[in-house]
Amino acid sequence: MPLTVNPLTPVFVAEVTGVDITSPLSKTEFAEIRAAFDAYSILVFPNQQMTDETQIAFSERFGPLEPTGKANPATGTVFARQSNLDIKTGEPIPADDRRMWYQKANMLWHADSTFKKVSSLCSVLSAREVPAEGGATELASTRAAYDSLTEDKKAELEDLIVEHDIVYSRGLVGFEYSPEEAAELPPNRHRLVRVNRNTGRKSLLIGVHAKEIVGWPWAKSRALLDDLLARATRPENTYRHEWRSGDVIVWDNQAAIHRATPYDTERYRRLMQRTTISYSEEMKAMESAD
Ligand code: OGA
Ligand code: MN
Repeated sequence: MPLTVNPLTPVFVAEVTGVDITSPLSKTEFAEIRAAFDAYSILVFPNQQMTDETQIAFSERFGPLEPTGKANPATGTVFARQSNLDIKTGEPIPADDRRMWYQKANMLWHADSTFKKVSSLCSVLSAREVPAEGGATELASTRAAYDSLTEDKKAELEDLIVEHDIVYSRGLVGFEYSPEEAAELPPNRHRLVRVNRNTGRKSLLIGVHAKEIVGWPWAKSRALLDDLLARATRPENTYRHEWRSGDVIVWDNQAAIHRATPYDTERYRRLMQRTTISYSEEMKAMESAD
């Protein structure tokens, strides 16, 4: 069966079938996937039973992977694990355990890694175990949001720089950081308007880590960022994915935002593995103010 790209929403989500992304892909196959990624920005691949090894191999076709884990990249891994299961025992973590706070923070609209010095091109999330109900992921198109702006508004946004700060965003859900911890997570600045280098299409880098517009008063900054988020998450710009085990989604972190939704974490098991692809230096170099 040939590789087929089937739209799930008119402009920003497509399902890709007829390809086994758990096996090495030919140049042509990956070129088709990359073109679909640029055209849509969110791709769903059903029925792909990923292992950590095959997920890394597939993800690396998009570019270099971000290390996860704290100060020492050598001891970190390339996976961000979205799960209610204790990594050692494999059993559900009690709902009031501090570790479950991270899952709550994921329920706010965000793009991955916007608070880092180098933001992310895309994430690959694979469903290894899914709850029988709940635990869907919602995604929203900041490219559709950009396209819906007036030409005047687009011009006003064109050169704005946004400060992204995870100490700020986690603070919104009750996390507290010591001055030493906060010093390891300094804010980073990125252009608000993003340009896809292959298509020239523009989008917005927003979400919960976007704290303020550089040089703007706080209230005016917040009003704009909140307004853009509301625009991006209008029903016509969003897609809700009910996971089946074996689903893989690739989302463009420059053109889409996403959030987790609740499920009964004491009753069901959920294990999702995320790899995150860096927005490479090559692309960064094309954006002078980044
Ligand atoms: C992520 C994420 C949402 C979810 O993996 O970056 O936000 O539903 N996941 O697990
Ligand atoms: Mn995320």
